[in-house]
Amino acid sequence: MPQPRRVLVTGGSGFIGSHVVDTLARRGYEPRIFDLRESPHHEPGSVDTVLGDATDTASLVRAMDGCAAVIHLAAMADVGHVQADPAGAERLNARATAAVLEAARATGVGRVVYGSTIWVYSDCEPTAVEEATPLAHPAHLYSATKLAGELYCRSYAELYGVDYTILRFGIPYGPRARVAAVVPAMVERALKGEPLTVAGDGSQGRRFVYVEDLAAGVVEALKPEAANRVYNLAGTETTTILEIAQTVRELLGNVEIVQTEARPGDFGGKEVSSERALLELGWRASTPFREGVRRYVEWRHAHEPVLGAPVVQPERVAIRRPVWRDRVLPRVPALVPSPRRALSMAAVAASLGWGVMSDDSFSTLAKIFGGGPTTSVHTTRPVVGVVIDAPPSMAVEVARTLRRDGGAASIGLTGKVDTTTLAAIRASGSDPLPRLKPGGPVRWMGTRSQVKHLARDLGVTGHIYYEAPAKGFTYTQNLLAHTAGASALRGQVRIAGTGPLGHVDRGDILQLTLTDSNWRARLAVLCRQLRARHLHAVPADELIRGRS
Ligand SMILES: NC(=O)c1ccc[n+]([C@@H]2O[C@H](COP(=O)([O-])OP(=O)(O)OC[C@H]3O[C@@H](n4cnc5c(N)ncnc54)[C@H](O)[C@@H]3O)[C@@H](O)[C@H]2O)c1
Repeated sequence: MPQPRRVLVTGGSGFIGSHVVDTLARRGYEPRIFDLRESPHHEPGSVDTVLGDATDTASLVRAMDGCAAVIHLAAMADVGHVQADPAGAERLNARATAAVLEAARATGVGRVVYGSTIWVYSDCEPTAVEEATPLAHPAHLYSATKLAGELYCRSYAELYGVDYTILRFGIPYGPRARVAAVVPAMVERALKGEPLTVAGDGSQGRRFVYVEDLAAGVVEALKPEAANRVYNLAGTETTTILEIAQTVRELLGNVEIVQTEARPGDFGGKEVSSERALLELGWRASTPFREGVRRYVEWRHAHEPVLGAPVVQPERVAIRRPVWRDRVLPRVPALVPSPRRALSMAAVAASLGWGVMSDDSFSTLAKIFGGGPTTSVHTTRPVVGVVIDAPPSMAVEVARTLRRDGGAASIGLTGKVDTTTLAAIRASGSDPLPRLKPGGPVRWMGTRSQVKHLARDLGVTGHIYYEAPAKGFTYTQNLLAHTAGASALRGQVRIAGTGPLGHVDRGDILQLTLTDSNWRARLAVLCRQLRARHLHAVPADELIRGRS
């Protein structure tokens, strides 16, 4: 595998992620941050950044465009936050990882490097652990949600061939660390001249890892030999809490050390071996603990403390309404349309005159304003979207036949179809697809309700994709359907008969109509020709949604 160049780093604005971004850039990669917030650790505009939510597969799919790998670090990393918000932790740690894997599957990104934690060993029997140590069910929610992410990685590799590398990080420390972490917390106290608190008797050992060493290990994990492997990235020395306090005292002055109660659910401390990372990746944590703390203190003298990485929600754009509207609207709500609605009504009205007259108007208008049916999407996966028009009586058999050949399709249907048929189509991996009737001078008027009813009858939820009629599809229909939250798709390649397929690219939508008795032979020929090109048939609507 050639060395990947552009690498997406989810959580790249955070503590570990920002160092990973720097290491990638130093080593000639092109890092791209995916985070809810701009990086506070980089000059604005200096790193390619996509703002988005890591639980949103569609945003991830867009961000992964052109990326050879994704390093997934976005998470709720603070165990205090996890305890306070268990549902949020599950969403952010487990579900976001599933979303990243799903996006990787859709885009064909070559590797998902997952930032896990040595906390997954917390409940293991042995005190000395390595990657092959059987894991016990974790008691702490942080470990449970991070372990769920590991399991999803394995499942996606098994079922869909998405390569992963799982990295179990030791406890990182160093510049940009949150003050809630043990080393920065002690440094803060020492800077204020307050006594250093040590939980329990201070003899608990931790495998700390200096964050820049850790970032180097994360980048090493992009190597081909790390595919589908698990590595511990922890320090080589065990440091006790008491030793941390003593190191901080040595570096910052003569502060008192006092002992407090042990924290509930804290990582018990294990001898974590990182031997495998040394043998296979040539990585070891090389910065001695004292030196790492010294560098943190030096950084801290020049910077404000990082108070934490709160789980910020994506910003909502406030739409300011004109004052007159606030006063008048409550009195005449039905008479005054919102500006946006008025604008779209004007646009609809303006295009009606010509748009309804002929379907020839469609291509001209679509060229000017854009927004015609989707006929292909960009994907690096070896898939094509398929739309099959077939009468409801044939639809289930078509979907099953396709399934036997390892494929699936969107089955275009124009009316109400019984639930058993719909369930059987879906059980075969295909999707029922609302199929709009042609427009023309009169029929465009019912477009909005037609699309909505069709979607409801076929049990289509979320954003509606519908099949645009091959002939008689007017721009007005397109526009009206759009106002009902629906988008048109149609075949880039129309297949008739059993002849050769012609030129087909990954991501193209192929369309065929099956009504004749010859349909099985036609499907078999299509599947054979796709196989010969190493292409896989998926439902066209799934392809666009980025699920395939
Ligand atoms: N810090 C540790 O002690 C530690 C130890 C072991 C493993 N890890 C793991 O390493 C990874 C990074 O940890 P960190 O300490 O750098 O955390 P951090 O909190 O500093 O960074 C996490 C980043 O993710 C971003 N983020 C949060 N929710 C998001 C969302 N929904 N969508 C997009 N971005 C989102 C945050 O804005 C933040 O920039 C995590 O997966 C964590 O579980 C951390």
